[in-house]
Amino acid sequence: MSDAPAGRGGPEQRRGPEQRDGMEQTLTTRALAEINACVDLAALEEARVRWLGRRGALTEQLRSIGSLPPSERPAAGARINLISERVQHAIEARRADLERTAVARALAEGTVDVTLPGRGEATGGLHPLTQARLRIERIFRNAGFEVAEGPEIEDDFHNFQALNIPADHPARTMMDTFYLKDGCLLRTHTSPVQIRAMQSRAPPLALIAPGRVYRRDSDVTHSPMFHQVEGLFVDENVSFAHLKAALHRFMEAFFEQTLSMRLRPSYFPFTEPSAEVDISCVLCHGRGCRVCKHTGWLEVAGCGMVHPRVFEACGIDAERYTGWAFGAGIDRLAMLRYRVSDLRLFFENDLRFLAGFAGGAP
Ligand code: DAH
Repeated sequence: MSDAPAGRGGPEQRRGPEQRDGMEQTLTTRALAEINACVDLAALEEARVRWLGRRGALTEQLRSIGSLPPSERPAAGARINLISERVQHAIEARRADLERTAVARALAEGTVDVTLPGRGEATGGLHPLTQARLRIERIFRNAGFEVAEGPEIEDDFHNFQALNIPADHPARTMMDTFYLKDGCLLRTHTSPVQIRAMQSRAPPLALIAPGRVYRRDSDVTHSPMFHQVEGLFVDENVSFAHLKAALHRFMEAFFEQTLSMRLRPSYFPFTEPSAEVDISCVLCHGRGCRVCKHTGWLEVAGCGMVHPRVFEACGIDAERYTGWAFGAGIDRLAMLRYRVSDLRLFFENDLRFLAGFAGGAP
């Protein structure tokens, strides 16, 4: 149809469009070939500019239409637009192709070969002190005790006074206290948790309270921060015999061996009577070794019957209830159980030391 006017024209006018036709064919073929030969998106963009850009070959063609006889212009314009559209489509198709290939290549490069052997990433483990604490908690939980907590920043009342340690009491000098502002202090023992428990609840009470405690002490066997576990059992008719049996059972469960235990009379302001707890040496079984300083015994806790004044400070009827308490060093128990000879190893975070406990379960 578009040829009709040209067909009616003279020979020269017919040749013009025919020649252009051939040229347009060539242009189209070349353009499509170039586009399909592009191996990446950058080359494709270059080709696009070359053909369709402001100075692209097809744009030039469009521009040159102005020099044609007016009668041919519409048809020529329509054809070039058609070619431009084909070229544009070809570019888009090629771009989609190249992008698909690029994604496929990225995926292939990033593919994880699940059949390769692993690199052996090391798993972490529980710190030996954590293992010891969890072990203690489990043993007491199994016996019906609950695990209580208290603040590490305490006040004088809970850390001292309520425990029958008044301001001028010589026992205060036994515990080199870190004092903070406003009468606060870092608790020197876990015993204040006893007070908090008895203030907030009525007997019967059966609890342990493990946690960090602080004293101004630092040498081979002392760290300014260390761990204790407190035990408290309060009910009617609780006796010293209960205390001894409970501690003995606990020690044997903790060390997983049959042990002898003895109580030596001692003094603590918050218990009466009071005792130090010794167990037969877990390393030499009482024969005598370096760890037990050749005595065959290890001192592992302090204990006693809750002092009536402590009950009174907490509003508990000391006529009706009796109770026992103990306090033990978790670090020392852990050293003995895991055969660690230097307390400081627990706090240095040396991975060579800690790795030895990685697989351990409480
Ligand atoms: N609080 C004591 C200390 O840190 C340990 C202790 C001894 C706790 C006897 C007790 C106890 O509950 O009855 O040295």
